[in-house]
Amino acid sequence: MSTSARSRLPTYERLLTIAARGPWDPGTIDLTADRERITDLPVGDRVRVRGLAAGFLVAEDAVAEHLVPFAPAADDDPGRAACLRAQSRDEDVHAVATRRLWAAIGDDHDPLDLVPDAFRALFLERLPAVAAGVADDLPLADAVGLYHGLLEGVVFIAGQDALLDLALEHELPGTAETIRRIQKDERWHVSLGMRILCDLPDEDRVTAVLHATAPAAVAAWGDLVPAATADAVLDALDRRLRILGMGPFTAAPAGPAR
Ligand SMILES: [Fe+2]
Ligand SMILES: [Fe+2]
Repeated sequence: MSTSARSRLPTYERLLTIAARGPWDPGTIDLTADRERITDLPVGDRVRVRGLAAGFLVAEDAVAEHLVPFAPAADDDPGRAACLRAQSRDEDVHAVATRRLWAAIGDDHDPLDLVPDAFRALFLERLPAVAAGVADDLPLADAVGLYHGLLEGVVFIAGQDALLDLALEHELPGTAETIRRIQKDERWHVSLGMRILCDLPDEDRVTAVLHATAPAAVAAWGDLVPAATADAVLDALDRRLRILGMGPFTAAPAGPAR
């Protein structure tokens, strides 16, 4: 990456300042109207709202749990490790927020029944394997490429955009506020991931893997995310990587992916 491209990314110090804006309290979000209106939605949209909320319930719980080994693996740089610890605090808040949202609109469904197999595999199989790897011998860049690059930078953004569109269309104010608060935090988490990647020697290999695997990852939402939303997220990833001087990409190189 060129020096000018690198300077576009915030420093760890700047990211810690953003993180210090303060934790928010999911308990202050009023979900009363959402609870009342969810049953009146057209069946197709009701299935999608619940499916997306179920996805975030599963995913935010998983990322909160599996971020824990990242900070110790980054302790060669105190600023980097401090950012990852600050991110962990955000993820714990997100897990609480998505549990509250689910309690309001999920009815008695098992959330795992409402998300596609490919989505469950990403968060309940691949992410735990990578988190176990980063505590062992997997390069931190590979773990960050999956966690911050692919899951937060592609899968989450697509699902959040899809759920926010539905929440606004059907006037679900608590759902919209929950997603907006989470999105605000996820923006600095994605920037942190790019900052870490560009500081590590595996940057080119890992970003090529990220670029190559993004289409399949966003498709893990299945019909819950419209094709236009998925395409827009992939285009945004492409732009983000190009602005940072990454690519052009051909095929994903071999590496210690798990
Ligand atoms: Fe999160
Ligand atoms: Fe996050």
